[in-house]
Formats: sequence, structure tokens, C-alpha cells
Amino acid sequence: MSEKNLLSRYPQSKRIIKNRIKNKESAREVALKFGKEYFDGDREQGYGGYYYDGRWLPIAKDIIQHFNLKPGDRVLDIGCAKGFLVHDLMRTLPGLEVYGLDISEYALFNAHPDVIGRLHLGNATKLPFPDNSFMAVISINTIHNLERIDCIAALGEIERVAPGRSYVQVDAYRNISEKKIFEDWMLTAKTYGTPNDWNKIFKEAGFNGDYYWTILEVD
Ligand SMILES: C[S@@+](CC[C@H](N)C(=O)[O-])C[C@H]1O[C@@H](n2cnc3c(N)ncnc32)[C@H](O)[C@@H]1O
Repeated sequence: MSEKNLLSRYPQSKRIIKNRIKNKESAREVALKFGKEYFDGDREQGYGGYYYDGRWLPIAKDIIQHFNLKPGDRVLDIGCAKGFLVHDLMRTLPGLEVYGLDISEYALFNAHPDVIGRLHLGNATKLPFPDNSFMAVISINTIHNLERIDCIAALGEIERVAPGRSYVQVDAYRNISEKKIFEDWMLTAKTYGTPNDWNKIFKEAGFNGDYYWTILEVD
């Protein structure tokens, strides 16, 4: 298990102060439904349009290299949304068997056409797969949307289906000023803290995968 940033080539976007969310509580309520409003609605309620643009291709390459994946290996993306990373992993390494799981019916019904049939509707807390059934499990910016107890269940599930072969990225802050930015901007997170807080959660869950942090920045 190690701290390793597999998203170093993900485009960094800073939040703009003047665009700060005005009705945060109502926006959060809408966003937490993970429906159309969250993915393809107003920017205040989520992504403001979740489209395929190939941004996951360099990350797919880094994931494949990190886990030394080969054609025929099975990979799972938990919180796959519309399946863009699933798509780019398969495009980068033809023959790789990639699947996704997400709680959002809207995302799965609006998935990338090339991955239809590969995405499962489900909850990260209870994966519908046998023990040790994936060569790698990825979960990016998803686990922090769960309550602490469910976070621990989800991390335990990841460990069950891919022992020691996973990558989890979660929201975190390293100091008071990052905490303030995070609390001003975050919409859907229910469990968050410093890397040290997360390390305690990982330990409690018996999680042995790799991990890194999403830290919000403002301009
Ligand atoms: C911030 S989005 C991240 C999507 C994608 N991984 C990415 O980085 O672009 C969080 C995703 O987690 C999904 N999600 C939230 N709670 C979940 C749960 N309990 N089980 C599975 N997926 C969940 C949401 O529907 C959404 O697609």
C-alpha cells in the first residue's frame, strides 16, 4: 500500500472565487441524487456537463503501467459514472476486460456507447463480484461520498475483490486554508479529512491498496 498520484496527468482546474456556490445546501441536496442535474445540469449542482473528451487517456496509460496489466486481465472502476475511464482503459490496452459500477441510473443510461453492457448499477458498499476477481480496482473521487461507516465497508469490498491491487482517490485537505476552501466548495462529500485521517480509515478497513488525494484549489 502506498501513496501514489495516478492522476498527475488529469487536467487541473482551479475554482474561481467569484463563482462560489450561492445556495450550497440546496445544491448539495440536488447533487447527492447523482441524477441529470449533477452530471449535465447547472455548474452549481455538479459538473455542468459531463462529456467524453479523452482526458482519461493518459491516466489510463499510467494505471495500466502501474498495475502491469495485460490483455485478458479484469479491471473494475467503482464510481465509473458514464464509463469514460472504462472506455479509455480498453482503448489503451485492447483485450483488457474493464467493468464499471455506479449508483447513478442516469449516468449508466447516458454512458459512452462503447461501454454499454460493461457498467453495473450498484453500491460500492456491496460489490456483486466474487473474492479476488479483479486484477485491479480503481475508485476515483467516489468513496468520500459515503458516510464513514459505508466508506469502511466500501474499502473492505475493494480489498475483498482485488486484495492489495487497487487505487483509491479521495477528497482531502492538508491544512486550515485548504480545509476552508474544501468546506466552501465541496458538494457531495460526506467523509473527508487530512491524509492522516484517511490513513486511519484505510487501516480500520484493512485496505491495502494505493491511494491519493484530491485537493481543491482556488484562483
Ligand atoms: C465525483 S463523481 C466521480 C466520477 C468519476 N470517477 C470521475 O472521476 O469522473 C462520483 C461518482 O460516484 C458515484 N457514486 C456515489 N455514491 C456511490 C456509491 N455508494 N456507490 C457507487 N457509486 C457511487 C456517483 O454516481 C458518481 O458517478
